Amino acid sequence: MESLLIKGGVPLCGEVTISGAKNAVLPIMAAALLTREPCVIRRVPNLSDVKFMGRILTWLGAEVHFQGDSVRIQARKIKGAGDYDLVRKMRGSICIMGPLLGRLKKAAVSLPGGCVIGARPINLHLKGFAALGAKVTIENGYVRAEARRLIGADLFLGGRAGSTVLGTANVMMAATLAEGVTVIESAACEPEVVDLACFLNAMGAKITGAGSPTLTITGVKQLHGAEHEVIPDRIEAATYAIAAAATNGEITLRGARADHLHAVFDKLRDTGVKLERQGSAITVRRNGRLKPVDITTLPYSGFPTDVQAQMMALMALTPGISIITERIFESRFMHVSELGRLGADIEIEGPSAIVKGGKPLSGAPVMASDLRASAALVIAGLAASGHTQVNRVYHLDRGYENMDAKLRKLGARVQRIEE
Ligand code: EPZ
Repeated sequence: MESLLIKGGVPLCGEVTISGAKNAVLPIMAAALLTREPCVIRRVPNLSDVKFMGRILTWLGAEVHFQGDSVRIQARKIKGAGDYDLVRKMRGSICIMGPLLGRLKKAAVSLPGGCVIGARPINLHLKGFAALGAKVTIENGYVRAEARRLIGADLFLGGRAGSTVLGTANVMMAATLAEGVTVIESAACEPEVVDLACFLNAMGAKITGAGSPTLTITGVKQLHGAEHEVIPDRIEAATYAIAAAATNGEITLRGARADHLHAVFDKLRDTGVKLERQGSAITVRRNGRLKPVDITTLPYSGFPTDVQAQMMALMALTPGISIITERIFESRFMHVSELGRLGADIEIEGPSAIVKGGKPLSGAPVMASDLRASAALVIAGLAASGHTQVNRVYHLDRGYENMDAKLRKLGARVQRIEE
């Protein structure tokens, strides 16, 4: 297994090009199952999750060809049931269910278990399918949805933590081929949901209201092939912006969308970070001493839970007290104890972490537990003195394209080693 060995203490400087968004490309690849015709998706990041989705679609019978940063998918003839082990291994693959149900009126996938960040039930996905007229059963570890016909319906998709991103995506995809109109209230407004709706409309779907809590889908008889360029990854952009602040460097983010990052940039400005936009580039640099800020994670356009860990690393470096409250996932503080190994002073109180920041961090071997936690450990390691070894770096490769190479280009002393 590989690790990253980081020698900290270097301000990161230079330019980084932001890749396509993982959380947009996964449901967009699944959406290609809705038609027999070829679909071409561009700005596809080279990530293990993306390759995994390619394997799942191939298993279902689709032809999947990756070429450079594009993928061509043609699902002429497909099965209605995903491979048990493949689907079980990647939660994001649950989003094949909506397209399969929409096109074949039946879908079966292995029930995604929980993960380290939370129980992550799919009750809202299933509620949506049932509202369209599907019979939903859970048996032998499989969740099945079947319907003679799918009929458009009005439904409320809000849950314990508000809207659901993949739940909205799944129901929206199934509803594109339902009879009549579906209105989803409390729909997720994430840019990745909007990007999926754009792709579906390019395939001939009739979707309005994407990006607002009220999504209207007028069903059509069939969809055709389409081409689409995926949006840039706002979480990757936020991660590099925070790395610039943490190392007291200056990074220009190429190709990032500032309009997807208001909540993150607003908090960074509050900490004293300077952000300058020039065309499609955003330059991030620290502007004097950092100031502590309080963060509460919320559905979009609130502060994203996928940036919580990285922001905690920055607050650990910032003199003063900051309170970070996680409202989306019930156990997304796995990084706290590992940041503690580097000398951070953080206490967990219920859904909040109290960060007593400002103590200099010193390098140590640490263990990545999940994708965003590993990004936080890399940021802390870049700012710490001495060597930090981030183990189980496969977590990072799931969501960050060539992170160590991009960091080296910014002047970081980081190398990939065998554990
Ligand atoms: C997506 O997961 C992202 N994953 C996650 O990113 C991201 O953290 C999350 O949205 C929230 O922004 C992908 O897009 C592949 P949710 P998703 O359904 O759709 C509860 C990363 O780091 N809920 O919006 O699975 C759920 O438990 C990953 O890139 C129900 O209760 O998240 C959670 O508390 C991690 N019932 C909340 O809603 C349901 O049926 C939000 O989850 C569905 C969700």
